[in-house]
Amino acid sequence: MTTTPRRRQSSKPARALLLVGFMGSGKTSLGRALSELLGWPFQDLDARVEARQGRTIAEIFRNLGEAGFRQVEREALLELLREMQAAPLVAALGGGAFVQPENLAALESSGIPAVFLDAPLEELWERCRSGTTERPLAQSLNQFRELYEARRPIYLKAALRIETSGKEVAAIAAEVISRLGLNHELE
Ligand code: S3P
Repeated sequence: MTTTPRRRQSSKPARALLLVGFMGSGKTSLGRALSELLGWPFQDLDARVEARQGRTIAEIFRNLGEAGFRQVEREALLELLREMQAAPLVAALGGGAFVQPENLAALESSGIPAVFLDAPLEELWERCRSGTTERPLAQSLNQFRELYEARRPIYLKAALRIETSGKEVAAIAAEVISRLGLNHELE
């Protein structure tokens, strides 16, 4: 009797994950740590947008406005999702990418688990203020708070929420791996 390989029942890729959350939530640092542990490449959506455009995110906002930035971001996201269907990847999304309705629909139908890195507003604000990255949407605490409050319910649609406050990156990485059942992937 010959056996034929069983086709995968769903289009859900087994070896990909997306990190989402507000500005300053540590998506890029965690993405690098997870990439190292899992042996999967890491991709940062903002870095991809900058490479495609040949200018920084802040310059794109200045030249094209937020609407122009969102369009470029969406194209880069769709490209990234196609790559994630084919090969293992850890990806970090910019804070606004997950909450744009058309993006959310594409992300949900991709079947790739999204992990929401949750943290209190004050901590996120402090991290953004002390960092070197210029963030066009982190100019005032009031604007930052309004965006945070509007977006948080949407981030909660992610497959997994991880509380990051007071935790080291290594501990958060271990928690993501364990909660997604990825221990067998550890190199
Ligand atoms: C944005 C977050 C930024 C960057 C852009 C817009 C947002 O990414 O994509 O400035 O809308 O929250 P980080 O979350 O990595 O700071």
